[in-house]
Order: sequence, then C-alpha cells, then structure tokens
Amino acid sequence: MKHPRTLALAGCCGVLALAMRAADPVPSKPAAPAAAPAPKTVPATATAPIAPPAAAAKPAAISTAAAAPAPTATPGTSPAASGLPKIRLFATGGTIQGSGENRDNIANYRAGQIKAPQIIADLPELKKIADLSFSEVSSVASGAIDAKVLLKLANEINAWLALPDSAGAVITHGTDTMEESAYFLQLVIKSDKPVVVVGSMRPFTGLSRDGPLNFYNAVRTAASPDAVGKGVLVLLNDTIHSARFVTKNNTHRVDTFVSRELGAIGYADSDRVVFYRMPLTRFGSKTEFDVEKIETLPIVDIVYGYQEASGAAIEALIAAGVKGIVLDGSAPPYNRATLLAMSKGMVIVQCDRKGSGRILTSERSAGRGTVSADNLNAQKARILLRLALSKTSNASEIQRMFNEY
Ligand code: SIN
Repeated sequence: MKHPRTLALAGCCGVLALAMRAADPVPSKPAAPAAAPAPKTVPATATAPIAPPAAAAKPAAISTAAAAPAPTATPGTSPAASGLPKIRLFATGGTIQGSGENRDNIANYRAGQIKAPQIIADLPELKKIADLSFSEVSSVASGAIDAKVLLKLANEINAWLALPDSAGAVITHGTDTMEESAYFLQLVIKSDKPVVVVGSMRPFTGLSRDGPLNFYNAVRTAASPDAVGKGVLVLLNDTIHSARFVTKNNTHRVDTFVSRELGAIGYADSDRVVFYRMPLTRFGSKTEFDVEKIETLPIVDIVYGYQEASGAAIEALIAAGVKGIVLDGSAPPYNRATLLAMSKGMVIVQCDRKGSGRILTSERSAGRGTVSADNLNAQKARILLRLALSKTSNASEIQRMFNEY
C-alpha cells in the first residue's frame, strides 16, 4: 500500500475580485447570555468581506460573490424566517480552493487561492439547505497547517458551535494533511453538533472538479440531524468517514480517502445522508482536551523505521529538545536511542508503518516505558501525543489517553 506523500503544487492563480455581504462573525467566546447578538465586527482572520448596502438591507441566506451570478432569494423568505440550519464554513485552503491558469491544469495549480465567498456562491443550490456564513481561517496548502492555525480553527469552531442557534460547521482543507486536522478537531471540539471536513482532489478551476459536489454534500451532512454526535467527519467522493479512522490512501484518485480496517460510516447520497455506524472512542462533549487557553503545542516528531536505520535521527531530535517522538515502525538501533530519549523525559509512542492493525500493549513495552498508539497511524498519533503532552508527560497516563481516544 502506498504511503501518502505530500503533493508539490505549483502554478499560477487567477485573482478574483469579489464583493460580498459581510460574514457573520464568530465571537472568540460563546456569547453570553445566549440570546446576545453577535458583535458586528469582522474577525481578524476573515477576508474582510464588504457588504454592499443593498445586500446588507436584504441579506441572502448564502454569501454571494459579485463575480458569480447572485443566487435569487426564495420569494417571501429571509434567513431568519427560512428556518434553515445555520452552518458556518471555516476555510483553510487546499486544492478545493485551488486555482490553475487553465481548466486542464489538474495537477498544476496553487492551493488555497479561491476564497470562501466564491466557494459558496458557486453553489446557489445550497440556499435550499442551509443559512451559510463563513470565516477565512487560513488560505494555505495543508502541509503548511501548523499548531497556530489548528488552535485558531478549533477555538473559532468551538465558539460557533456554542451559539444556541448554530447547527454545524464545515471546514475546507487540503487533503494531504486533512486527517491530522480532522483528528485534532475530533479531540478538541467540545460540541456534539456536526463538524464536517471536506476537500477535493482537483482544483476549483479544473475540468471535472470534485470540490463543488464534495462541498455541497458536506453542507448537507453538517445540516443533517443524523450527523449529530458522530464526531468529526471527513467527506469526499460521497463517502463519510470518521476522523478517527480515515486516511489518505492515494496521491491522485478522487476516492483516495479510506478507513482501512473499519470502513466508512455513511454516505451522502442524492436522496439522503445516511449513517450505518459511529466511532466509540472519546470525542465531542466527552473529550478531556481543552485548547481555549493554549497558545502552542509541544513539539513532537515522527521517525520512520526501516532496515539499517541508525539512531541518528532520534539523537538529533533529543538534541533539538523535542518533547516526544512517534516511531513509525522499528529498527534495533532505536532501542538504545529511545532509552536515552526517555531518560531525558521524552515520551516515545510506538506505531506501525503497515497502515493498519493495533500495536499491542505488553509487559515488555510497559516495562520499557513506551506508549502503544493502538491502531492510530503515526501522523494521528503525533496529534494525540501533542495534546497529551500539553497535560502530562507521565507515560502511563498518556497510554490511558491512547486507549480511550
Ligand atoms: C493540500 O493538501 O493542500 C494540497 C492537496 C490537496 O488538497 O488535495
């Protein structure tokens, strides 16, 4: 099975002049009391959308871009009267927001160039499904997502979902590291309202682009009462996966996302969004992780295991002062190097590079003081270890977290 690799993306972007109604801002904290109106400021993270006076007087259920035909409002309805679920798009970038010079530039484009209002305006059909607002959190390829973006994203989503009349959240994200951000959100989002992470394998400007249908289905899923309490979901290619189990499996194909041993949990089909199962690990209102007051996350790196690997990478990481290492596979020289790392207070988590299957806990591993990642892959084990280390460096307490999350 192929190991997922980051795509190198290059090319030119089309610059799009947009004018749209202002995004409803998410307060940095839940509004209290619940009925208090949201402050009328644009969050610092948003692309400052300018509200034309006419649009401000007659708000549409969905943000519209001047460059695209404005979706017409259903006669006699307004967002407030429509009763449509309030869904907020948190845009981070990726191929779903990617722009190339020509339609046949399927692999040669720049990620994160198309802004949230155009993603929304591209789909007037969504007016029948949701009252959509948006926040521009970042506009990067997903390899550039870091702790700062993750924390900002999580805190904005938590604030939005804490509002009594919000229904759900959709996050546009590059697919390369999507599973990492989705699992991070699974661990830190404190609400049981639906959260759906969506991307695409072809850019917004490309032939046979998959982004619009994926985004349409993500909004339908976030608006579905059946998605409540299922944890953070990843949706591409009509298929709904749990963030806990999903992984990117192919560099180019539109069916790249799989949940290897345990399977998808549902589908966004044209008649309805349907679920068949849900994760039993801890998440949502049951999570113990709280990132509201955290400004950064401990540094954790991954070391791959292979024949004749030396301990040099681990020794370099010890010298660099990282707080934890995830071993993706093993090699005999790692034993001595990990003992040295643990003697300096670092936490070592053992994964396996095969891409599926559990790391069994044993008296031997417990005696050594290493932590089993259970069936998490290395990139997700790294996410959980960072959060765990923000609370404790006790290996048995961290093992408990890996058993539960
Ligand atoms: C990225 O991960 O940002 C680029 C690749 C993609 O979105 O599919």
